Amino acid sequence: LAAVVMAPPSPVPSPALLSLDELKRVAAHRAVEQVESGMVLGLGTGSTAAHALDRIGDLLRCGALRDIVGIPTSEWAAARAAAAGIPLSDLNAHPVIDLSIDGADEVDPALNLVKGRGGSLLREKMVEGASRRFIVIVDESKLVPRIGASGLAVPVEVIPFGWALTLRCLRSLFDGTPGFNLKLRTATINAKASAFEEKESQAEPFVTDNKNYIVDMFFENGIHGDLNDISDKILRITGVVEHGMFLGLASSVIVARKDGVVVMDK
Ligand code: 5RP
Repeated sequence: LAAVVMAPPSPVPSPALLSLDELKRVAAHRAVEQVESGMVLGLGTGSTAAHALDRIGDLLRCGALRDIVGIPTSEWAAARAAAAGIPLSDLNAHPVIDLSIDGADEVDPALNLVKGRGGSLLREKMVEGASRRFIVIVDESKLVPRIGASGLAVPVEVIPFGWALTLRCLRSLFDGTPGFNLKLRTATINAKASAFEEKESQAEPFVTDNKNYIVDMFFENGIHGDLNDISDKILRITGVVEHGMFLGLASSVIVARKDGVVVMDK
C-alpha cells in the first residue's frame, strides 16, 4: 500500500485578525478543496490565485493530489505554477478544462466579474470560458453593487496598430456617460484612475502576454445598462481584441470575509 502523506494543514488565525492577503488565502484554499486527482485545471493569475497555485503544489508534493494538468492563464501563472511543481499543458492539447480557479477585480450580485487588472484578461477568458466549472476567489473588498463601481479599471485589450483610433472609438461609444474616462495603460501604473495623472507622456505602454496594449475604462458610478449589449458593442470595434467584463462565466464565487467564508452560487 502506498502511503498517502496528508498535506500540512493551513493554519487560520481568528477571522477578525486576518489581513487582506490572509483572506485571499482562505478563499483560495477553500476553492482548492474542489480539486480532484486527474483533473485538468485552469490556473488563474494574481495575488489570490497565487495562493491556490501554491496550495495545489503542496498537495501534489504530499501525494494528496495526483495526475493534475494545469493550463496557465498567463506567463506569470505558468512560471508560478512551474515553481510550485504543477505539470503544465495548453488549451490546444486540452480544449476542455474540468475546473478553473482565479481571482477577480470586481464581482457583482449576479456573479458578473471585472478581470484584467493584471493584464491577463484574454487568456483568462479563453481558459475560463473553456471550463466546465469556474470558481472565483475573492476577499470581501471585491464585491460591488454593479461592475465598474469600485473605481478600478474595466480593461480592454487592443492591438497596438492604431491604438489611439481604437481608444477614440471606445470613447465615443460611452460619449455622454457621466464620469466616464479612459486611458492607455502604461507600464508604470497600477490601473487606479488617480495614478494615471502624472508622467503619462513619458511612460511606455503596458504590453500584454499577447503583445497587445490595454485601454483602461473608468465609470465613476459603475456601468449602467444591458451589460451583454455593451459587451457586444465594445467587441464590434475593430482593433479591440477582448474586454475584462466576464459575464455569466463564473459558476460560483468564494468570498473570504472577516466574519467567515460565503459562497455565492449561480
Ligand atoms: C489578472 C486578473 C486577476 O485575477 C485580478 O486582477 C485579481 O487579482 P488579485 O487576486 O491580485 O487581486 O484578472 O488579469
